[in-house]
Amino acid sequence: MHLVRRRLWGLAREAQLTPDHHYDPYDRLAPVYDWMAWSLLLPFGGEDRFRGAVVDALGITPGTRVLELGVGTGAMTRRMVDAGARVTGLDLAEPMLERARKKAPEADLRKADILAFEAEEPFDAALLAFVLHEMDPATRAGALSTAARCLRPGGRLVVLDFDGRAPFPIDPVFRLYLRLAEPEVGRDLLEGGLLRCVERAGFAVSERRSLATGTAQVLVATRP
Ligand SMILES: C[S@@+](CC[C@H](N)C(=O)[O-])C[C@H]1O[C@@H](n2cnc3c(N)ncnc32)[C@H](O)[C@@H]1O
Repeated sequence: MHLVRRRLWGLAREAQLTPDHHYDPYDRLAPVYDWMAWSLLLPFGGEDRFRGAVVDALGITPGTRVLELGVGTGAMTRRMVDAGARVTGLDLAEPMLERARKKAPEADLRKADILAFEAEEPFDAALLAFVLHEMDPATRAGALSTAARCLRPGGRLVVLDFDGRAPFPIDPVFRLYLRLAEPEVGRDLLEGGLLRCVERAGFAVSERRSLATGTAQVLVATRP
């Protein structure tokens, strides 16, 4: 197991691009990312139901302007556009963005660093889906500060990420998956760290919903 993990970390390091805070194994992961997400979520009621709950949390109505930070292959983008949102999305990994552009051509998808982004006009909502667990605490604070800066007062932030509240026997299997396949840097998010960092960034959290039998969580918060 140790060897597998070292190999995965090695691949991630080799693939790292500037800036240094961007964890980037996505040259290799992009071709299989959608298949991985689909199969990992299948035992928990499927990807559509899972991602649909996140779209619901955003409260999208026709024309809602959403800033998606870390679009990946566009799985959330497509669903938000279908719900009527006008999406601007950012990602640094070109192989992921290429797929997102094909999936959601209606969205404005840009190769850009979340931490450096400045909005031309304020957004109604912002989404960070499975992005913060790849970041160290300082980088996370930077990403949340971008969300705060780009939202209008009263705008909604939705954060989707891993959670550590699954029951036995799902919990040990899930933690083994995390050890093998995910960067160690975000492990504190499982034990309440996600809620703490969103609150520390100045957001008022109104809801913390459990998804996929406690392996994921969605936080809904407002920019004061
Ligand atoms: C695990 S993927 C999640 C993708 C998608 N949100 C989803 O729900 O499937 C994380 C994505 O965040 C992007 N990302 C991480 N740090 C970033 C940064 N600083 N600027 C832009 N994109 C970043 C990665 O390139 C990757 O595509």
